Amino acid sequence: MSELIQNQPVEPQELKLSSKQELFLDMALQGKNIFLSGKAGTGKSTVTKLAIEKLQKDGRKVVAIAPTGIAANNVGGQTIHSLFNIPPFGVMDFESCNFVRSEKRVLFDAIDTIFIDEVSMLRPDVLDAIHWTLRKNGCKGLSQKQVIFVGDLKQLPPILNDTTKARLYESYKGHTFSDALIFEKLTPEIIELDEILRQSDNDFINALNLCREGIKTEYFRQFVADAPNTGVILAPHNATVQAYNKASLAALPSKQLVFHAKIEGKLKADDFNLEAIVEVKDGAKVMYLCNSKDAPLFNGCLGDFVVKDDLNFIRVGEVEYPLEPVKFTKKEYVFNKTLDKLELQEVGSIEQIPIKLAYAMSIHKSQGLTFDEVTVDLKKPCFQAGQMYVALSRVRKPEGLRILI
Ligand SMILES: Nc1ncnc2c1ncn2[C@@H]1O[C@H](COP(=O)(O)OP(=O)(O)OP(=O)(O)O)[C@@H](O)[C@H]1O
Ligand SMILES: [Mg+2]
Repeated sequence: MSELIQNQPVEPQELKLSSKQELFLDMALQGKNIFLSGKAGTGKSTVTKLAIEKLQKDGRKVVAIAPTGIAANNVGGQTIHSLFNIPPFGVMDFESCNFVRSEKRVLFDAIDTIFIDEVSMLRPDVLDAIHWTLRKNGCKGLSQKQVIFVGDLKQLPPILNDTTKARLYESYKGHTFSDALIFEKLTPEIIELDEILRQSDNDFINALNLCREGIKTEYFRQFVADAPNTGVILAPHNATVQAYNKASLAALPSKQLVFHAKIEGKLKADDFNLEAIVEVKDGAKVMYLCNSKDAPLFNGCLGDFVVKDDLNFIRVGEVEYPLEPVKFTKKEYVFNKTLDKLELQEVGSIEQIPIKLAYAMSIHKSQGLTFDEVTVDLKKPCFQAGQMYVALSRVRKPEGLRILI
């Protein structure tokens, strides 16, 4: 699969763009740097996909990237970490950015325009790391490319544990992408989309807008129910998500298969977005967890697990792709005293089939998506600003929403 984006068709029907969406398209085509902002469901990602198509028709070479696999797929792109080979650990500096193979260097040099969606989750050091990786590999940096940021800062912020936060604040004033050192060279023009297009019910829209500002309203009480609807379940905590997935799996009649990750050395499976133990059955709803080189499978891609003649497949649409384990290695810098230099040393490896159950997903993973039916499980409360807003704003119509408390 080419690493320049495999652009997804925009929408089946012709969309009538809002006036701000039109303004954005014009400015994008003029080659401007832009921060396209606006509330959830104002059509930022939709017009981004249109802009990508139009720029490509104009002969420009475009990539679309995002902090999570699902968000990247939503605009037909790939994750920031996989495109720029950014290590999954620690706070980035120039030293920790990677040299890349020559084909990727050619790709980096070819890129004219970079769209980054869901920038509320983009860490400033990761934005700098994109620039540093380009420069380290002898390519033009971000300041010499067109950069278009897309996202809503009232949605979820980057995920940071206390150690990472402390380390990040040694080098940065804050944890938003606009705190990146490279940001002041990019000076994007801000366009804020203001027409909500995901929902059309005015009371629902008004209540969502209050929720976005962190204001409580009674409106959402009417959606409180005893059991989930038939759509996806969203929850703040991974433990709740896992419990739902386990129960849905148990309800399937087919035989359960268990895959244990082969882990060597010191690492955790979820550092690599893999599961230590995959329990699955024929017919289970699953998500693919990495970007495949041989098949059009990507991190965040949804499908069904299929067993045939003792072989395992993931069915996406009508196509069944064989499921093979993937192997990842973790490297760390060590100081070689004899040579007086830092060296990368392999500290562990993991091998596992790259899938997990997908009946329920964390609110973090759902950012950017639109659903017809959603159950939000709030039995354990949200723990981050923007989390409740992201969850409640995923569904098109109030009839499709249920809340469990
Ligand atoms: N001009 C339009 N006319 C009608 N529907 C639209 C238009 N633009 C977008 N939509 C629809 O609105 C919904 C939300 O769009 P989109 O996902 O692009 O919003 P977003 O601003 O990226 O939201 P989020 O902040 O949640 O990522 C989608 O179902 C999309 O098809
Ligand atoms: Mg979006």
